[in-house]
Amino acid sequence: MAIKRPQGTQDILPRQTALWQYVEEKIRSLCRRCGYEEIRTPILEATELFQRGVGMETDIVNKEMFTFRDKGDRSLTLRPEGTAAVARAYAEHKLYGQTPPWKLYYLGPMFRYEKPQAGRFHQFHQFGLEALGTADPLADAEAIWLAWTLGAELGLRGLALQLNSVGCPLCREKHRAALTAFLAPQSADLCPDCLVRLDRNPLRVLDCKNENCRARTAGAPALPDYLCPECREHFAAVRSYLDELRLPYQLNERLVRGLDYYRKTAFEILAPGLGAQNAICGGGRYDGLVEEIGGPPTPGVGFALGLERLLGALAEQNTTPSLTEPPCYVLAALGPEARRWSAGLAAELRAAGFVVLMDLEGRSLKSQLKFADRRRAAFTLICGEDELARGNVLARDMRTGEQREIPRADLLREMENSISKERRVKSKE
Ligand code: HAM
Repeated sequence: MAIKRPQGTQDILPRQTALWQYVEEKIRSLCRRCGYEEIRTPILEATELFQRGVGMETDIVNKEMFTFRDKGDRSLTLRPEGTAAVARAYAEHKLYGQTPPWKLYYLGPMFRYEKPQAGRFHQFHQFGLEALGTADPLADAEAIWLAWTLGAELGLRGLALQLNSVGCPLCREKHRAALTAFLAPQSADLCPDCLVRLDRNPLRVLDCKNENCRARTAGAPALPDYLCPECREHFAAVRSYLDELRLPYQLNERLVRGLDYYRKTAFEILAPGLGAQNAICGGGRYDGLVEEIGGPPTPGVGFALGLERLLGALAEQNTTPSLTEPPCYVLAALGPEARRWSAGLAAELRAAGFVVLMDLEGRSLKSQLKFADRRRAAFTLICGEDELARGNVLARDMRTGEQREIPRADLLREMENSISKERRVKSKE
């Protein structure tokens, strides 16, 4: 039986990779403009990093990690997210010893053992960013602005920004007591997952998607009403920055996020047309995380955006751009001697920066011209025995069908001229 890819994973084939590269380039450009630098951390991390960082009671750590023992009996995990790993690298390399803040971004695969469905995979890709060493609410607003602006620059319409503050441990303790008192009398009506949450982390009950649980939690004590003065002030400042940046947001008191490290700001960006998995981006502030994993107390804020969901939203809205490729040249050689000679010519032209394709199957001239048509080549450079004897190539303009012999020595210059002429024509259009 033929071997298939593992469940919940995807192959990204050449036509799609062009689109991925386009989106990744937009991301890199936006990050550069906002002063974020790229960080690359391992795909494998010590399991304990996520247990301590993301939290033992979260679904991610409890149910969704790809964890195994290596040959040295160490427990390793395929990273389910990037924030804990960036915080680990920050502490491990003592980046805090240098002038803060560190504004870092990453692009790469993450792994979660969730039930595969539309927009939810075992291996997926995130663009994430983290600003470490700053408690300034402007950093929260700047991160949110960047995520929002990426969507806008890609032409996405109908995005919704949801915002909440989940406070600090101080506010949460008071809120937890009130929430538990509110939920306890109704515990018999909660779903089995929420019964466990009620005991371990009642805040997560507010986030349950079960209709019955949602009905039971209507009117439950809302976290923003329990914020301490510092958290309240921070939340107000973030909101006023968002107003100044003209980012429309909806306050959502139920937005608690599925990772335990959040403090103060929490946000998500939802895209229309994606069904249940409509969160393309989620993030917030995590001022205790670096300390939790053994570093010094360090504030931090960031987000991660799911690239499969972002591309899904673009496809849903027919906003995928038509990507223009540089003009290509097909070198059509006929006969073994001409092929050898053409191989050298192709290498020379490629080294000079041209996209040059050669037939690899010894096909006839007719098929090579068809191939050139299919690849939308600007020119086919034909080299048969006669041209070879004269040291020339026959250049066929694929748009007009015109043909002209050019001495090999002049070819590079002629091609450079024709390209710049084409560019001139295009820029006039
Ligand atoms: P998260 O909300 O767990 O946050 O994930 C962020 C985004 O990754 C989601 O909004 C979604 O687009 C995408 N995503 C998550 N799971 C899957 C999946 N199974 N399949 C496809 N896409 C998925 C975090 O990961 C935090 N580290 C974000 C953060 C950074 N907070 C602060 N800094």
